[in-house]
Amino acid sequence: PLPQPFTMPFQTPPVLKPVRSDADTDYYEITQTAATASILPGVKTAIWGYNGIFPGPTIVSRRARTTVVRHTNHLPVPTVAHLHGGRTPPDSDGYPIDFVYPVDRSYVNQHMNMEHMNMGGSMVGDTTEGHRSYTYPLDQRAAMLWYHDHRMDFTGPSVWRGLAGLHFVRDDEEDALGLPSGPRELPVMITDRSFAADGSLSYPSIDGSLMRTPGVTGSFVAGVLGDVMLVNGTPWPVARVDGATYRLRIINACNARRLDLRLDPQPDGLLTQIGTDGGLLAAPIRHEHVELAPAQRLDVIIDFSNYKPGTAVTLLNDFGDGNMSQVMRFIVGEKADEPFTVPDKLSTAESLTAAQAVTTRTFRFQSGDVSHMKGWLIDGRPFSPNDIAAAPKLGTVEVWRLIADFHHPVHLHLSPFQVLSRGIGGPGAFDAGWKDTIDLRASEEAAIAIRFDGYPGKYVFHCHNLEHEDMAMMANFTTR
Ligand code: C2O
Ligand code: CU
Repeated sequence: PLPQPFTMPFQTPPVLKPVRSDADTDYYEITQTAATASILPGVKTAIWGYNGIFPGPTIVSRRARTTVVRHTNHLPVPTVAHLHGGRTPPDSDGYPIDFVYPVDRSYVNQHMNMEHMNMGGSMVGDTTEGHRSYTYPLDQRAAMLWYHDHRMDFTGPSVWRGLAGLHFVRDDEEDALGLPSGPRELPVMITDRSFAADGSLSYPSIDGSLMRTPGVTGSFVAGVLGDVMLVNGTPWPVARVDGATYRLRIINACNARRLDLRLDPQPDGLLTQIGTDGGLLAAPIRHEHVELAPAQRLDVIIDFSNYKPGTAVTLLNDFGDGNMSQVMRFIVGEKADEPFTVPDKLSTAESLTAAQAVTTRTFRFQSGDVSHMKGWLIDGRPFSPNDIAAAPKLGTVEVWRLIADFHHPVHLHLSPFQVLSRGIGGPGAFDAGWKDTIDLRASEEAAIAIRFDGYPGKYVFHCHNLEHEDMAMMANFTTR
């Protein structure tokens, strides 16, 4: 029952209200639960959702106001909530074995396999029963963050079932620009998914219990791609927009699919990029098309005012075939307002250089065997919570050379970075600004300059192709 592209209306996830606020903190509550969603026409789809919806509710925070999110786990399996892009103390960062056990533990008790749980040696995380409050200081630049499940070995299937949502940070620097806002600022969370004939989500887990053996079958080892493109949970939606300037907050939240985005017909001013993973760029960049790897974000200004009313403007993915080469469509209405002029200077973002680095480290992202199965490794090693790959000092900059066999979107927790170089064609325009995820391409070597700042503790870095991550392409660094 797949819909024709551009027949279903564009929707945005609801914004979550705090349950209370005090002088410096906003408190939120989220219940993780199984639910059904109407994604395809005429059928119901079973999902796992934050508050039972996919995407989860959007949280909007003010820079340096603390956000506390209390998660309650009504799912059958343990969960871990991670705020991607957050500069978060380690006990709230969602370390992959810091499980929140379900309120009802019967499924876990029935399926728990002690042998697997002990794979990493004395592998016991900081676990909680039923609930956990995550505290986010959010003393960081305005940016589009997102939260998603991060349980060791099972992030891919959990996110696929729906455990992902948006979280915006706002600040005065951004406000001062007077960017399009309210109904003129649209979140665009792109996820590909596959469905069985009965409307259920299909995911090729080796172990459908999602409790014992990680990983996926056969050719999916390279990453699970879907054949339906969803935006904010709707297949190939169509949005009616005014003939005016819009700000699109785009995220590639696919498990494994890389995107190459372009509008057809191209707007005046093309895709005017104003921000990336880590917030505003120093100056806008105009793109005909932009590559976006899993977990990366794109903050872009689109001027719809010069299209004739009634024009259909399609967001295309030039890396996809057939229906997967299309994402969503805008139908332009009557001209409204004067177009917004993007300022030449957006922010005071500094540039890191290799000369600032106190250390250079090299990591190889390659396929290999993980306990007799094919998997993905960093420097030949599978993820183990007890292995520390690097121990950077807070307040310093390091250069990391990242070498890839295949495509790997490499993500670091806590620490924003800038791309200094990459092997094939130098850094691209899409590499500008503060990133938390770099799209490492096949057979490529890149260098990034990382600022370690924030909190002492143990954090992970990993491939954000979620199947690679689950099949062990993750490692630890400790900050001190
Ligand atoms: Cu988006 Cu370690 O995660
Ligand atoms: Cu990878």
